[in-house]
Amino acid sequence: MTSGGDSPGMNAAIRSVVRTCAFYNLESVGIYRGYEGMIEGDFIELNARSVKGIINKGGTFLKSARSKEFRTKEGRQEAYNQLKKENIDALVTIGGDGTFTGALIFNKEFNFPVIGIPGTIDNDIAGTSHTLGYDTALNTVVDVIDKIRDTASSHNRLFFIEVMGRDVGHIALNAGVGAGAEEILIPEENLGLDRLVESLQRSKESGKSSSIVVVAEGDKTGSNVFELKDYINEHMPEYDVRVSVLGHMQRGGSPSCFDRVLASRMGVKSVECLLEGQSNLMVGLINDKISTTPLDKAIKGQSKINKELIRVSDIMST
Ligand code: F6P
Repeated sequence: MTSGGDSPGMNAAIRSVVRTCAFYNLESVGIYRGYEGMIEGDFIELNARSVKGIINKGGTFLKSARSKEFRTKEGRQEAYNQLKKENIDALVTIGGDGTFTGALIFNKEFNFPVIGIPGTIDNDIAGTSHTLGYDTALNTVVDVIDKIRDTASSHNRLFFIEVMGRDVGHIALNAGVGAGAEEILIPEENLGLDRLVESLQRSKESGKSSSIVVVAEGDKTGSNVFELKDYINEHMPEYDVRVSVLGHMQRGGSPSCFDRVLASRMGVKSVECLLEGQSNLMVGLINDKISTTPLDKAIKGQSKINKELIRVSDIMST
């Protein structure tokens, strides 16, 4: 099942889970629309051939949802009844922290074996250096910023580019460094509006005629990118400012090779964990090895940004 915000690589992970089941002579059933579909018994039997031609497809063919009903005891009871009716005896759930929180409660209430695969472009899960879709999203964002830079430099403009990341700045920080942004604003470090103005002032003085500022959606420097634009318009009228909010385009597209390989590795491990009788684990990538982390640790310990990148970014924007 896939649940929460979709991410590139989810299809590749479903394919891997289904093919690993086939390899071990296990039957697999896909659940549509995450916990919503579980409650409604919206299932489909899958076999090795039903997942052909999807490794390269963005989104998730099982579809995804954020379920309110699963947050209720009655909803979860109905979900359990549906799984039992279908003789399903273990769950691999692909999603983010909301998905894993639901899986843990479900396991506690019904002692139902669950294994999580981290799928979110935000990379905001502990216990893995990369979540599925993060690498693809980074490449998408860098590609778009490169394009925006073409027009920014043609018009000597300053662009504020908002990228996804409600609570964490992984996308902003990495894509910002990768695309050569002059400033990167992330939720983890509120640098403040004065510091932003000073930095842009320095950029101007050092001869830069255009600038790119990447802003994570959860950043608190302004209340949003449009407010940042207004502030700079007011305090630095010499700048011609534009805003670009990249939005959901960051969640789409064909997964990168990295995400496809990661999905394939995680899918195999998830089924093998269940075969070994394990539960309440998340499969992740640690030091390039597929490892497991207890689901509760994965949820609670949010992944930390790489502070070295902040320093690198500061030096690069000299
Ligand atoms: O969690 C992934 C994510 O893409 C966030 O970066 C973003 O804030 C959120 O989902 C958007 O959610 P929705 O698709 O429900 O608007």
